[in-house]
Amino acid sequence: MSVGTTERTRIAVLVSGSGSNLQALIDASLDPDFGAEIAVVIADRPHVSALDRAAAQDIDHVVVAWSDFFDRAAFTAAICDVARRYEVAGLVLAGFMRILARGAIEQYPDAIINVHPALLPAFPGADAVGRALAHGVTVTGVTVHFVDEQVDHGPIILQEAVAVRSGDTVAVLHGRIQKIEHRVFPRVVDAFGKGLLRVEGRRVEWTS
Ligand code: GAR
Repeated sequence: MSVGTTERTRIAVLVSGSGSNLQALIDASLDPDFGAEIAVVIADRPHVSALDRAAAQDIDHVVVAWSDFFDRAAFTAAICDVARRYEVAGLVLAGFMRILARGAIEQYPDAIINVHPALLPAFPGADAVGRALAHGVTVTGVTVHFVDEQVDHGPIILQEAVAVRSGDTVAVLHGRIQKIEHRVFPRVVDAFGKGLLRVEGRRVEWTS
C-alpha cells in the first residue's frame, strides 16, 4: 500500500540492536527512486542504537518491549497494531531477534522480510556466524528471505556467499557478512516496494 504524497510502499522496520541494517535502509531511502518508505521503526526493547538512528532521521519509532508480554501471540499482536496504525504494507526484520507468531504472517502474507547472517538452510536461529565458524565451513554468507511460520525458513529471495578466512573471529567474519547485508538488503526491500517479487511455492521470482 502506498500512502501519502509519494508512491512508495510503506514499511515498518523491526529492530533489536545496533541497527546497521536499518541505517543501510535509511540511507537507501534517501534516493527518491527507492521503492519503500520507512513509516515506523519498532524495537523489542528500549535504549537500542537503532532507535537513535531512527530519531536522527525523524522517523517515528516505537518500543514494543518483549518483556511486557506474557506470550508471543500477544507480543506479535501489539506489533501488528502499530504496523496497522502506520498503514504499512510489509514488515522488514533488520536484526530483529524475536520470532513472530502466526498472526503476523496471516496479516502480512509474503510481506515480511528477514535478513539472516548465514546461507540458509544452514545455521538458522541465533549465533549463526559463531556456529558456522565453529562448524568449520569455508563458505557462509547472507540470506534475505520471506518469513513463514518456521524460524529462518521461508522462501529465499537472495543469497550471497562470503568466504571464511583462516584466522577469522566471529566479529571479523560477521563484519564482512554485514558489509554484504548492507548492500543486498536495501536492494531486496526496494524490489519488494516496487512489487517486483513474486512468490511461487518456495521460489521467489524477480520480475521487472
Ligand atoms: C545482522 O547481521 C543480521 O543478519 C542478524 O543480526 C545482525 C543485526 O545487526 N540477524 C539475525 O541473526 C537474525 N536471525 P544490525 O542491528 O547492526 O542490523
